Amino acid sequence: MYRKREYLATPMFNNSIKMMLLGGGELGKEIAIEAQRLGIEVVVVDRYDWAPAMHVAHRRYVVDMLNPNAVISVAEREKPDVIVPEIEAISYEALEELESRGYFVVPNAKAVRIAMNRIELRKFAAESLGLPTTKYAFAENPDEAVEACDKVGYPCLLKPEMSSSGHGHAKVLEPNPRAVKEAYEYAIAHSRGKSRRVIVEEFVQLETEFTVLTYRYVGDNGVITETCEPVEHWRYGKYHYIESWQPSTKQRYVVEKARDIGVKIVNALGGLGIFGVEVFLTKDGRVLFSEVAPRPHDTGMVTMASQDLSEFAIHVRCVLGLPVPKPRILTPAASIAIYTDKENIWGPRIRGVYEALKIEGVDIRIFGKPFTYKDRRMAVVLARGRTVEEALEKARKASSYISIE
Ligand SMILES: Nc1ncnc2c1ncn2[C@@H]1O[C@H](COP(=O)(O)OP(=O)(O)OP(=O)(O)O)[C@@H](O)[C@H]1O
Ligand SMILES: [Mg+2]
Repeated sequence: MYRKREYLATPMFNNSIKMMLLGGGELGKEIAIEAQRLGIEVVVVDRYDWAPAMHVAHRRYVVDMLNPNAVISVAEREKPDVIVPEIEAISYEALEELESRGYFVVPNAKAVRIAMNRIELRKFAAESLGLPTTKYAFAENPDEAVEACDKVGYPCLLKPEMSSSGHGHAKVLEPNPRAVKEAYEYAIAHSRGKSRRVIVEEFVQLETEFTVLTYRYVGDNGVITETCEPVEHWRYGKYHYIESWQPSTKQRYVVEKARDIGVKIVNALGGLGIFGVEVFLTKDGRVLFSEVAPRPHDTGMVTMASQDLSEFAIHVRCVLGLPVPKPRILTPAASIAIYTDKENIWGPRIRGVYEALKIEGVDIRIFGKPFTYKDRRMAVVLARGRTVEEALEKARKASSYISIE
């Protein structure tokens, strides 16, 4: 079904190969750059103007991506060869409709729909595929939430059915129906869409977290699924990523278990492209599937420093039907995300770059987001070292100089 690509072409001509990115954040920007390098015509869609990827696109559209008609209209106007969703908050009805009209949606509309919904995804991974996960239960009203928490045990974590970047996560420490009901209302208030459903998960003690970048590409005899050397990351108790590094320093059998989970879930979701498979290693030694993003992963930005093909280059090759020989780790590397705590600065400046870039092996990516809000990610520091520890030290030192104003 998926074809090998025999040629590339010239952008802005009638026979160009066109990629439409739905979402133009920092990950989309790197995808766009990799696509540009291959002579692809790049169209970026986002909900605000001058989103990062728009700076490196041939054309851009500002559209509410939760509105199916808006997404379908832009696609019908552009008629892209490949549609690459870059964020979760996209109308999946639009993606399903576009797929039924013959468009290639990456990796496929069904995978996008399952992965964006915590309840669907958990059923798929734990119940259909038998992957190990945290203990869990579902609830759709406050009383059911109390029951679900009692079933899962304490501490536990409530998450809305749909949300991203940790929005609406609420931890409950001990049995207390009032606290559970408050947590439930908090989760629902931060949910995307009108759903009243939540998942309750056992809150595990983490030893570390892995992102298993797993990709599917067109090989000589059909689609091939492979994994990159897992990325490790640490969030310092926050729900968003702060530091990541590669290769993992954990024991090989643990890393192999994580990779195995990556291959199983990604094979079941199908399609083409790279997926960020999030896997927990708990303090009591369990390796658990957490969730999967059917696209490059923020923690995988480290691969821009560590691998000969970054996760973005891999994604672009996969979705275009090009081969992906196993990426090589060139050097241990680390990444640190730079967040701002400032609201509503337009055209922010990034200070401290001179000191940061004086450190050998350090690089920075400025996303070019036109305005700030609290906890918005604005840049990432990348560092190479002889060891992961050295790379992390350099990245920490470099990022300590950086400020947004
Ligand atoms: N059951 C759990 N026990 C302990 N920690 C958890 C649990 N679930 C999530 N976390 C922590 O919260 C982080 C975010 O969780 P999750 O990936 O489910 O949220 P998300 O909204 O998809 O965030 P992101 O978009 O950053 O992946 C995890 O990476 C982990 O650090
Ligand atoms: Mg996650």
